[in-house]
Amino acid sequence: MQTINVGLVGITGYAGMELTRLLAGHLCMRLSMACSRAESGRRLGDYYPFLHGMPGADVVISVFDAHEAAQQCDLVFLAVPAGTAMGMADALLRAGVKVVDFSADFRLRDPGVYAQWYKREHTCPELLPQAVYGLPELYAHDIAKAKLIANPGCYPTSVILGLHAALQHDLILCEDIVVDSKSGATGAGRKPSVPTLFCEVADNFRAYGLPSHRHTPEIEQEISMLAGREVRISFNTHLLPTNRGILSTIYTKLRRPESTLDEVHAAYADTWKDSRWIRLLPKGSLPETRFVRGSMFCDIGLVVDKRTQRLIVLSTIDNLCRGASGQALANANLLCGLPVETGLETLAPLP
Ligand SMILES: NC(=O)c1ccc[n+]([C@@H]2O[C@H](COP(=O)([O-])OP(=O)(O)OC[C@H]3O[C@@H](n4cnc5c(N)ncnc54)[C@H](OP(=O)(O)O)[C@@H]3O)[C@@H](O)[C@H]2O)c1
Repeated sequence: MQTINVGLVGITGYAGMELTRLLAGHLCMRLSMACSRAESGRRLGDYYPFLHGMPGADVVISVFDAHEAAQQCDLVFLAVPAGTAMGMADALLRAGVKVVDFSADFRLRDPGVYAQWYKREHTCPELLPQAVYGLPELYAHDIAKAKLIANPGCYPTSVILGLHAALQHDLILCEDIVVDSKSGATGAGRKPSVPTLFCEVADNFRAYGLPSHRHTPEIEQEISMLAGREVRISFNTHLLPTNRGILSTIYTKLRRPESTLDEVHAAYADTWKDSRWIRLLPKGSLPETRFVRGSMFCDIGLVVDKRTQRLIVLSTIDNLCRGASGQALANANLLCGLPVETGLETLAPLP
């Protein structure tokens, strides 16, 4: 069997931790480089005791160096903050290494929009045209030919997958979409901060970042492309007192007020009939974060509210697996000519 050597920069973060877990069970990919500045010099198996005796445990954590990466890796995952990833990606691509970037650095097509929302100039806008937005259900063909993948954001993954069928079948009015998203605390990353301390998050529920969460332009860009015209959304985020999981409740207006749940459900079933990871729930069932935990599934529930003429879409994913590392691995599989599901066929652990 072919062995693909991969590197992971940002090994100590939550996304890096999740990808380390997934790679340990991957039959073809071998973690040959693991980077962090703070933990450089440590054996990975000592830093992550869950890796004891597993592939990757003997890798020694190092500080990122693009030339070292080119010698050791066929592909590098960048699980580092936005603003840091773009310079690393540029150096890796110049050295002939494929890149899957977890950050927002290559997701927005327009560097002006990036500067406006991320409060910094893009340092390599010339790379943006070659970056492929890594949603495997929609762009598998382009992903397979790419050298640079912009792995989607966690909230955008839940919203785009939730709305795609409604847009494809022209079921809703694009003028009036309100997204109410909730995420577990790992969505904020592992860097210590007061708002994510246990006592601030546990036994509490609060909104944050309204009305200007940075994922707004990414969702609008992708939804506009699917709709074939410019779409604005109202996007509102909340922090759940859980480790993982995103539940997005998406309120839309039906284009035809007389549309029934049967019709809408049939349209969604048609869009997702060949998808292994998008699970359209039976009519009357609503998704829960615990059933997608640690998996690639996106569970979608539909509600038609006749009284208000709304289609309400509920879309849930695991932010770390489907919303970050699992999706990155699916993209890497496609980039390397492997079946997209390689190493990703897990179900949620329950309870
Ligand atoms: N958490 C999620 O649910 C989620 C979902 C989708 C996408 N993402 C994206 O994935 C990326 C990682 O997120 P995360 O939640 O894992 O963040 P995190 O927990 O804060 O970890 C960040 C990692 O990047 C490294 N790092 C930070 N600054 C760096 C720098 N200047 N140079 C090199 N390495 C640096 C850190 O290690 P050292 O400081 O030791 O170098 C750490 O390993 C981000 O772009 C994030 O937006 C996260």
